[in-house]
Amino acid sequence: MEPTKLIWINGEMTPWEDANFHFLTHGLHYGTGVFEGIRAYETPQGTEVFRLTDHMERLRKGSKAYWIPVKYSTQELVDAVKFVVRENGLVEGYIRPLAFFGGGSMGLNPQAADPMLVIACWPWGTYLGDEGVRNGIRVKVSSWRRIDQNSFMPNAKGTGGYLNSVLAKQEALRAGYDEALLLNNDGMVSEGSGENLFLVSNGDVFTPPVASGILAGITRDSVMTILRDGGYEVSERVITRSDVYFADELFLTGTAAEVTPVREVDDREIGIGKPGPITRFVQERYMAIVKGETPDHDEWREYV
Ligand SMILES: Cc1ncc(COP(=O)(O)O)c(C=O)c1O
Repeated sequence: MEPTKLIWINGEMTPWEDANFHFLTHGLHYGTGVFEGIRAYETPQGTEVFRLTDHMERLRKGSKAYWIPVKYSTQELVDAVKFVVRENGLVEGYIRPLAFFGGGSMGLNPQAADPMLVIACWPWGTYLGDEGVRNGIRVKVSSWRRIDQNSFMPNAKGTGGYLNSVLAKQEALRAGYDEALLLNNDGMVSEGSGENLFLVSNGDVFTPPVASGILAGITRDSVMTILRDGGYEVSERVITRSDVYFADELFLTGTAAEVTPVREVDDREIGIGKPGPITRFVQERYMAIVKGETPDHDEWREYV
């Protein structure tokens, strides 16, 4: 990780190396936090933060659902992120806001602990590797099930819930794959450890619904719009494991992963074993939009 200069902590800019928290931080022990992952891109019009307002709204909704107090409005959070990017001179990279319970209480009721809001940013290249973005990655269906929505809220980026993703990711990597695909408790496809899944079958595109236990990804939403703009049919549908093996094309979407083709699942080649035409179309359009190489969807680019 390449450090930047300053981290925003409850409204104060703190040097990167001094952004330390007490051992008895509630969120460290019990995962009582919600976070966002956001990307900033260099464009001909200057640096923009992609769909920043949508990310901040999701953070606020998640913190409300988990009763994690956030005293800042969406607009204040948007302004704070832009400030952090500007003050660090970040031209392109990743932004991590995190709302969590700090010190002051160790009981399971966190309400007496200090509410914290921290925003950091740093340069970050492709998440699943340049080679994966070009030629597709190898995915393994995880032996771990996506935590059920009766046990937590997959739709909020709650820090504690990510132990599930971390287990699945490590299992896949240790077995020699690039990423995990998690099924839900009904055995239906949910999502990758940190990405949503899209499947192409006979020219139509499908993605699991929120009810399959996924995070409603902001990239997923952008990709659905890009597909419809391009005249493709895209719909939410419950997806089985064999649907995945039978797919003509598969790809993952996420702020970190952007649009990453999948060339193999469980040692079965997907389609012709390399990124197909619809995957390529989405990938090229998505990158052109985030990098401001087209005037389309300027409303998604929030310039700093
Ligand atoms: C579990 C999970 N699913 C999906 C996504 C993709 O969401 P987004 O496109 O909003 O980054 C992420 C990334 O944040 C994630 O962690």
